[in-house]
Amino acid sequence: MYSDDSLDPTDWPAFRVQAHAMLDDMLNYAEHLRARPVWQPVPEPIRAHFQEKLPQHGTALATLHQQFMHDILPYSIGNAHPGFMGWVQGGGTPVGMLADMLAAGLNANVGGREQIPIEVERQILHWMRELFTFPASAGGVFVTGTSMANFMAVVIARNKFLGNQSRRTGLVASEHRLTAYTSAGAHGCVAKAMDLAGFGTAALRQIPMNAAFQIDLHQLARQIASDRAEGYEPFLIVGSAGTVDVGAIDDLAALADLAQQQQCWFHVDGAYGALGMLSAQIAPRLAGIERAASIAFDFHKWGQVPYDAGYLLVRDIQDQLDSFSAPANYLQREARGMAAGSPWPCDLGPDLSRGFRALKTWFTIATFGTQKLGHIIDNTCALAQYLASRIQEEPRLELMAPVNLNIVCFRYTGYSSLKDLTAQQCDALNNELVIRLQETGLVAPSSTLINTQFAIRAAFVNHRTNRTDIDNLMHAVLAIGDELFACDNQP
Ligand SMILES: Cc1ncc(COP(=O)(O)O)c(C=O)c1O
Repeated sequence: MYSDDSLDPTDWPAFRVQAHAMLDDMLNYAEHLRARPVWQPVPEPIRAHFQEKLPQHGTALATLHQQFMHDILPYSIGNAHPGFMGWVQGGGTPVGMLADMLAAGLNANVGGREQIPIEVERQILHWMRELFTFPASAGGVFVTGTSMANFMAVVIARNKFLGNQSRRTGLVASEHRLTAYTSAGAHGCVAKAMDLAGFGTAALRQIPMNAAFQIDLHQLARQIASDRAEGYEPFLIVGSAGTVDVGAIDDLAALADLAQQQQCWFHVDGAYGALGMLSAQIAPRLAGIERAASIAFDFHKWGQVPYDAGYLLVRDIQDQLDSFSAPANYLQREARGMAAGSPWPCDLGPDLSRGFRALKTWFTIATFGTQKLGHIIDNTCALAQYLASRIQEEPRLELMAPVNLNIVCFRYTGYSSLKDLTAQQCDALNNELVIRLQETGLVAPSSTLINTQFAIRAAFVNHRTNRTDIDNLMHAVLAIGDELFACDNQP
């Protein structure tokens, strides 16, 4: 039975009061973040609140707001908090939060059509062309994150090599045995991309790293030559601009030369490092990135845009169109009217419906400007150097990799005057140490393996982190480390 009901508020003034209360709560959250724990374990009764049956009837927004404040807000992973140092996660900003609210209010579907939100996305493309000195023919598109952007780059490189007909015939019809190359330090999503693109992960050659944790160029050249000799066809080289474990930057200029010589697609995974172009100190170390055929990166990491805001920049938009445009009657383009403005973002990637990620990115870049954002990036690297110097002065700690950018890998080794820890004990101690640090709620690094040894890994991405947080980390690592060491050394 039809009724005139909609889902809009029936009492707008009351809704407005409620809306302001929700906004105020999130502004309070951002303003007083430091006073909260970075992270805390989820109590089982709270978890149980999210195992309810599908509700047939609605609940008052004010009640759900209170549930959010009580059951959800305190139990996120905490990457907005200054003490968060895990993985590679940006902190977001109140500006980005407001922009996302505006985007949600507009509810723009930015898959295509004639509308100004697409011009905002094109504005970001113009800015990225400028930042990476890419030509006017370059295309770009927002996606969830670099995992997706890397996957798309592999697909574009595959289609470029095999030709457009391969989109119809698929990889099974191909007689070519294609191989791709990246460093052993590359992010796991590159191998996943090879899997998803139909090659299988074995077609990705993971080349050993040199002492600086960069791809070893000699071994790379040797591997390509031996693959060719065996009838494989190298089609893609993926360089890393900031590896996930230690922040190493491959020699991108040398990779660009090699890719050119070998007629391979040269893709750069710059998930967080590519935006180092905003920093006068880091940009020269990225030399060669401007020669890439494509670059994947995230505004949600060093760019401080709230999640999610990944991006793929492609030197020639035609290559992007060749891989992703898929004409359909219901998506017919026109010279005028709402279906004008082709090509659309849906022609440049796998998504048709997509949100207005460009708005929070536009607000962030326009509000702060590139100088301020670059300064924030420099700060995170300065914090990493400060931590590295504190570690080097401390006999109980050992630095495990050079500090290239904003990531520090280290471990607690104890007093050398006491009984030495075995390698296994040292790994176990540091593993427990990382978990206990996270449980303090004060500082939250993550972990990785460096040359098969367990490492505490502190990555500074969040613009809110400062020297106090590094001092807190040092203090907590030593206090907890000493406690664990004492247990291991009990007679
Ligand atoms: C070097 C590198 N590549 C790719 C990724 C994946 O990016 P995303 O999590 O945005 O998919 C990351 C994530 O930290 C990364 O550090």
